[in-house]
Formats: sequence, C-alpha cells, structure tokens
Amino acid sequence: MYGDLEQVLYHESTIFARLDELAREITRHYSNVRGDLVVLAILDGGLIFMADLMRRVNLPLQFRTLSVSSYYGGTESSGEVKILGELPDVKGKHVLLMDDILDSGRTLAAVKKRVQDDCDPVSVQICVLLQKKKPRAEEVSADYVAFEIEDEFVVGYGLDYQGCYRNLPVIGTLKTELILPEHR
Ligand code: IMP
Ligand code: MG
Repeated sequence: MYGDLEQVLYHESTIFARLDELAREITRHYSNVRGDLVVLAILDGGLIFMADLMRRVNLPLQFRTLSVSSYYGGTESSGEVKILGELPDVKGKHVLLMDDILDSGRTLAAVKKRVQDDCDPVSVQICVLLQKKKPRAEEVSADYVAFEIEDEFVVGYGLDYQGCYRNLPVIGTLKTELILPEHR
C-alpha cells in the first residue's frame, strides 16, 4: 500500500506528536466542562483521527458519530452535503465536531449549522486533522487544526480515494497513475 504513494507528508510518529499537543489544548479548553463535552465525529473520514485523539484527552467525555456524505468518489468536493444519520441529543452540551479535513468547508459549515439550529447545544467547536490552504466556499473555520497542507489531494489516516487507503497509518499523496484520468 505504501508503494501507491507518491510522497509521505506526515509519518505516524509526526501525527502522534501533534495529537499529543492538540489533546492538551482540548483538555485545557474543556477542563471545567467535563461530562458535558460530546465529541461528534463525522464518518467515515473522522473516525481514525477521533479514536487516536480522544484517547489522549484527559476528560470524561462522550462520543458520537454522524454519517455525512459530501464527496462522491473523485478528488473534488461536490456541492451537496447530506446528513444521513440522526442528529444526536446534545441539548445543553458542548459539542466538538471532528473531521478529517477542511477543504471547501461545505461539510463542516452544514453540520455546524444543523447542530446549532436543531440541537440546542451550549457551544460548537471544530477540530480537523488537515486544513487546505485555499479559499473556502463556506464561511467556516476550525478551532483546532493538526496540520495545514497545500491544496492537493491526500490519502491515509482516515482519508480515502474511492473508499480505499483510510487504513494507511501515514498521510501522503497518491501516485498520479493510480488516480483515474477524470479525477486528475
Ligand atoms: P469539504 O469540501 O470541506 O466539505 O470536505 C468534504 C470531504 O471531502 C471531507 O470530509 C473529506 O472526506 C473529503 N476530502 C476533501 N479533501 C480531500 C482529500 O484531499 N483527500 C481525501 N478526501 C478529501
Ligand atoms: Mg471522504
């Protein structure tokens, strides 16, 4: 699987060191909230990031997941964001949304708005593994970002190309010949 990568951008040890830092920031920010913190991971991309980061946060938090589809198999974000699952009950709670990447911003803008409008939380913050350096289609910003990357397509550590490579422990770019001509 590693042979499919053009370049490794972040090795596992680099990711873990950064997760330690982020977890300390999150622990500090929510230290008075304790059991009223709900981490809401966006599936499928946010799953691995959430699992590794949450085990480093030293607070008795709850976690939930939300299925969202916004990307249709290529390497460009589609405009439409669909929340597929039921929204969790987070009334009176502090919500920390976690996703793999802030790209166009459409997914997180839509989910944050739905949670704020429909779920009556006390606060909603956003935590992402990656943030692309590019203008966002939607007005949204992340409160916690592990790494900022150029505007290029990456896989691994939760991020997929056509459903694969999420289980790669590193983050990297794919060899061009592995990307379908219509997605290049
Ligand atoms: P958005 O454009 O910010 O709404 O991002 C939508 C979704 O696109 C993310 O949650 C990812 O699942 C996916 N995505 C965006 N950029 C990449 C990438 O470089 N690699 C893999 N998936 C990506
Ligand atoms: Mg995806």
